[in-house]
Amino acid sequence: MVSQDSEKQFQAEQIETRQQYAKPGFGQKAKRHCSRFWWLHLIIFCVIFLIVALCLVYVGMPKIAQNGVDESWMEVTDLKFLEPTSNSVVLTQEVILHSPSIFTPTLDPFTAASWLVTNGTFGPTPMLMIPMPKIHALHPVSNAGVQNVNLSIASLEQVTEYSTAIISQESVTTALTGKTKLHEGKLPVVDINYNSSSTYKGLNGLKGFNVTGVRLNSSAKAGEPNLKGFAYIPNPSVITVALGNVTLTLSTVKAGVVGNTTINDMTLVPGNNTLPMTGIVDQVLIASSLNSTGWVTLSIKGQSAIYNGQHLTYYEAPLKSNVLSLDMNIVQVLADSTSSS
Ligand SMILES: *[C@@H]1O[C@H](CO)[C@@H](O)[C@H](O)[C@H]1NC(C)=O
Ligand SMILES: *[C@@H]1O[C@H](CO)[C@@H](O)[C@H](O)[C@H]1NC(C)=O
Ligand SMILES: *[C@@H]1O[C@H](CO)[C@@H](O)[C@H](O)[C@H]1NC(C)=O
Ligand SMILES: *[C@@H]1O[C@H](CO)[C@@H](O)[C@H](O)[C@H]1NC(C)=O
Ligand SMILES: *[C@@H]1O[C@H](CO)[C@@H](O)[C@H](O)[C@H]1NC(C)=O
Ligand SMILES: *[C@@H]1O[C@H](CO)[C@@H](O)[C@H](O)[C@H]1NC(C)=O
Ligand SMILES: *[C@@H]1O[C@H](CO)[C@@H](O)[C@H](O)[C@H]1NC(C)=O
Ligand SMILES: *[C@@H]1O[C@H](CO)[C@@H](O)[C@H](O)[C@H]1NC(C)=O
Ligand SMILES: *[C@@H]1O[C@H](CO)[C@@H](O)[C@H](O)[C@H]1NC(C)=O
Repeated sequence: MVSQDSEKQFQAEQIETRQQYAKPGFGQKAKRHCSRFWWLHLIIFCVIFLIVALCLVYVGMPKIAQNGVDESWMEVTDLKFLEPTSNSVVLTQEVILHSPSIFTPTLDPFTAASWLVTNGTFGPTPMLMIPMPKIHALHPVSNAGVQNVNLSIASLEQVTEYSTAIISQESVTTALTGKTKLHEGKLPVVDINYNSSSTYKGLNGLKGFNVTGVRLNSSAKAGEPNLKGFAYIPNPSVITVALGNVTLTLSTVKAGVVGNTTINDMTLVPGNNTLPMTGIVDQVLIASSLNSTGWVTLSIKGQSAIYNGQHLTYYEAPLKSNVLSLDMNIVQVLADSTSSS
């Protein structure tokens, strides 16, 4: 009993001493734990790292990719509308794709809806559906585009609004939207929404329109062209547009309609256009509209745009609404006409 008691006492003392002199701090405890369970920590670290990495790739990457696509923008460098019919047009559009993202992803081909954007608001329906080729976006810029694609007009109303904007406005905004897949190296393929608008110059109301070299032929028979000359049309945009055979109505305030002129195969290209025109004018009505110094102010309004026998209503509407005014020195025209014939 005694020895048992003393042993217990000794043990208690020992414990007491240990507690007193070797009380391990939290740091020491942790250190010991770490040195014993380092492998557990390594595994936990690896698992967390993997989860973060996977989250970045599968959750962050689509966001990063979408942001990259959203931040990219197109600069239109060439836009051609050729070989039109009453419900189709052959489009060429070259753009410089600006991509601030450091990534250089590839977008799969997709069908983009092309929208007219007026004062920041999308039109109610797309104008055209454009088959976009595969795009490899480089940093900071790359080229993209479509060449000579024959598109049927998706909305005649929207295309009419668009050509009205192009002809009458200083600048036009259109947008391309669609869904496609994005590839970036070995990273998983990402579904993205493409929605990018671009603003470019329009024809600005054909400002600067003029006629030069006008000659009147007073011996021309009735119904035969008795006027010829050149229409001068500056085109400040990058747009090329084939309007067909365009007939314009000429009128004066005093006499009303005094005649018409036709520009055959009227294709406007970027820069200054000088196009031959012929016309039939009623010289009596014009003479009655002259002011005392021999000038007449002509109002020139689109009447028709016909391509291979088909009326292009989507060009006729803007040409009808964009009325041009031109002061013409008829005395000078008559003097020029007699001196050159
Ligand atoms: C767009 O804004 C301009 C001026 O800010 C205005 O003249 C024009 O009527 C607006 N167009 C539409 C369709 O709201
Ligand atoms: C474009 O396609 C339309 C039919 O959608 C056709 O009538 C037209 O002739 C085609 N244009 C050209 C230039 O091939
Ligand atoms: C594209 O984005 C504009 C806003 O920037 C939005 O109004 C429009 O509805 C979007 N269109 C599509 C098809 O996502
Ligand atoms: C039109 O051209 C004539 C020369 O042919 C020039 O005298 C006239 O100033 C021009 N008018 C306009 C509005 O530019
Ligand atoms: C004027 O018209 C007549 C009759 O059509 C034609 O014979 C003549 O060559 C024309 N003159 C000019 C300068 O075009
Ligand atoms: C131009 O006017 C003449 C005479 O008024 C007319 O005979 C002719 O049909 C008109 N041309 C066009 C294309 O409308
Ligand atoms: C168009 O003509 C104007 C003046 O007539 C001139 O200042 C301008 O440089 C010309 N533009 C081109 C692209 O030739
Ligand atoms: C006749 O019209 C021209 C062009 O509009 C103008 O420059 C001229 O001053 C006018 N002459 C008279 C006498 O009103
Ligand atoms: C324009 O009219 C001329 C003569 O009538 C014709 O030969 C030509 O094919 C027409 N051009 C177009 C693009 O329709």
